[in-house]
This record gives sequence, C-alpha cells and structure tokens, in this order.
Amino acid sequence: MKASDIIPFYGGTYPDLFEIERRCMDRKGNVIDFLDQNLPNGLALDIGAGNGHTAERLLNDNRQIVAMEPDETMIDPEKPLIWSRGTAQSIPFHTNTFKSAYATWAFFFDGMPDVDQGLAEVARVVEPGGQIIIVDNYGYDEFCALSSRPIASDVNYWSARGFNHTVIDTVFAFDSVEEARKLLSFYFGAAGEKVEQMIFEYKVVAYTKTNQK
Ligand SMILES: C[S@@+](CC[C@H](N)C(=O)[O-])C[C@H]1O[C@@H](n2cnc3c(N)ncnc32)[C@H](O)[C@@H]1O
Repeated sequence: MKASDIIPFYGGTYPDLFEIERRCMDRKGNVIDFLDQNLPNGLALDIGAGNGHTAERLLNDNRQIVAMEPDETMIDPEKPLIWSRGTAQSIPFHTNTFKSAYATWAFFFDGMPDVDQGLAEVARVVEPGGQIIIVDNYGYDEFCALSSRPIASDVNYWSARGFNHTVIDTVFAFDSVEEARKLLSFYFGAAGEKVEQMIFEYKVVAYTKTNQK
C-alpha cells in the first residue's frame, strides 16, 4: 500500500466531527436500506470502509463483510467486522473472492486520476455476475447547495462505465442548529456558519453494475 494512494480524510483527526457526520447524514437510513436490498448474500467488500459504520449495519447471518480501509486512524476494532488495510487501487485479495463490493463516499470520485484502476481492481476481486455499488452525492439538494465548489457526482461519467443509477432521497438531520453549524462550517466555511435549520434535503446516488470480466 503506497501512502500516496490514500486520499486524506478528516475522520481520524476529528472523530467528534465524523461522529456527527455519520449519525446525521443518512438519518432516515435509506442508503443502508438500498444497500441491504441490493447486495447479495455471501462475502462483500466495503472499499474505504471508514470506521465501519455502514458495514456494521449490512452484516447479517447470510452476508459477511470485509471492511477494507487504508487509514489506520479510521479503523474501529471494536466493531464486529473483518478488517483489512488496503486501497481501491491495489485490493489485497485474490481474484473472484467476493460476491459483491461497494464503496460509500470513498475513493470513487469521478475525475480523480486512479478511478479506472480502482474499478479494474473491483472487477477482478468480485465474481462474474456479482454486484458492484458505488454511492456518492447526487446533487440538486439543500446540502450540496451549501458548497461553493461542485461536490456532486456526474451520472454521465458512471453511465459511460456501464453503471445504472438510482437516486435515494434522504436527509442530513442534526440534533440542533448548533450541531448543524459545527459540521457544516467545517465543510463549507461561512455558508455553514449561517445555517438556521437542523434538517437538510440530501439526495444520494447509487451506481450499480453486475460484474462482467
Ligand atoms: C468519506 S470517508 C467514507 C467512509 C465510509 N465509507 C463511510 O461511508 O462512512 C472516505 C474513506 O475512504 C478512505 N480512503 C482514502 N483513500 C482511499 C483509497 N485509495 N482506497 C480506498 N479508500 C480510501 C479514507 O481513509 C476514508 O476512510
């Protein structure tokens, strides 16, 4: 694993802010529900698993999950997951190991230089006929509108790579306006400091593909 392959993430340095993010960003649980319904039984790979928040919720008697995360400060060993250190560009597993693989807001940001290398690695480690799901911001919502730079993914980019897309409506729902300001000012500066609400419309997109070699 090369250090230069890891995209820096704030969660290990500011765990209190990441705790707010993970608790509030899909308060309805609609992204988890989508993944739960669309991932098959058997072994799944979570790419860029963060602290294991999503993997922990998708684990059941029929679905085992390997949580792969390159940043050791993100890994939460208390979570009942199989942890692995690795990057999307170089997945440390044999060909056809997994029935499925997914990434939630991790590494697969369109336009980043190594995305196609990462997709080739995912296609290698997932069985033919297995499921691949990439989750990112859809845009056109109150949350993304706070950002002065584009933070939504590009459906055309993923369509060109053979992915279907599904828009998932959820909300960023904070416990107070103060909590909303704390996280949103960290993300968006002055625009976040000025917010007056606790709930923000948030549209997420899931890109799905059946793996073919
Ligand atoms: C925005 S966080 C999302 C974490 C988690 N998927 C979630 O939904 O809570 C992005 C994660 O991707 C990880 N990451 C950074 N570079 C990566 C790479 N090259 N391959 C896979 N994951 C990477 C970061 O360390 C971070 O934990």
